[in-house]
Amino acid sequence: MAPKITKAVIPAAGLGTRFLPATKAMPKEMLPVVDKPAIQYVVEEAVAAGLTDVLMITGRNKSALENHFDRIGELEATLERKGDTERLEKVNYSTDLADVHYVRQGDPKGLGHAVLRARMHVGNEPFAVLLGDDLIDERDVLLSRMIEVSGEKNASVIALLEVDPSQAYLYGVATVEPTDESDVVRITGLVEKPPTGTAESNLIIIGRYVLQPQIFDVLDHTEPGAGGEIQLTDALQEVAENDIAGGVYGVVFRGRRYDTGDRLDYIKAIVQLAVDREDLGEALRPWLRDFVSTME
Ligand code: UTP
Repeated sequence: MAPKITKAVIPAAGLGTRFLPATKAMPKEMLPVVDKPAIQYVVEEAVAAGLTDVLMITGRNKSALENHFDRIGELEATLERKGDTERLEKVNYSTDLADVHYVRQGDPKGLGHAVLRARMHVGNEPFAVLLGDDLIDERDVLLSRMIEVSGEKNASVIALLEVDPSQAYLYGVATVEPTDESDVVRITGLVEKPPTGTAESNLIIIGRYVLQPQIFDVLDHTEPGAGGEIQLTDALQEVAENDIAGGVYGVVFRGRRYDTGDRLDYIKAIVQLAVDREDLGEALRPWLRDFVSTME
């Protein structure tokens, strides 16, 4: 029987250069999406999929992350004094969400390098990796399906999304073979940010992974790739090519995914999420319609 997956690794040590100066003193994972930092959505998603042990890989500005998932006595006392129980509950909710641990990456040498820093904490078990750049709508299922497929196949599993082929060069791209399950494919090749026009498919890798622990041995010798960074995609390409620890499968996600990795997509994500919110949508929708009608 495949071992039960309990650990989630959340890399949050990137420099977030696309969001400077907002990310000068704060990790981009702390940027608010409506009224919650992106990282809280991601931790909530991990918890909803049954993962209770969260390891964050942090960089130079880790205090904001640690504070967010810790008690803040002064704030709690003030809200209590004011009798603002609703906000107090929100504050306590993020504190009690999961058992959160932290490890420093040191130099941000790439996502693969960040994941390798999880080795001691994870040990010899399969584990999940979730990136704060991609938010998955809580009404749609992805991570629990990936965990299920990983158990069935005893292999690593990545999340894939179909995009317009002209956009593929921006992402990690997968070449695949079908399996007998319509949402599952076997990965035959992976390339990180292929030069424009060379991508062999329109299936891109999005920020959810369920990995077998053998990935650490591969990452140990993975050389820097695209952008001079140690790429998780390159390590997974080696796992797929050599069929290491069951190879790599992909779950094709057809639900709602919000990209918060660059500024334009971040703005779109906030609008999309806010129009659906019970507390904000009713007021936002008519305003948005009016606003759009004033544009050319
Ligand atoms: P990105 O490449 O999108 O993040 O990494 P970045 O480098 O911070 O962003 P830009 O391009 O400069 O704006 C994807 C994820 O991997 C983490 C990031 O924090 C993000 O969640 N990451 C990346 C690390 O933890 N360490 C790294 O060395 C690189």
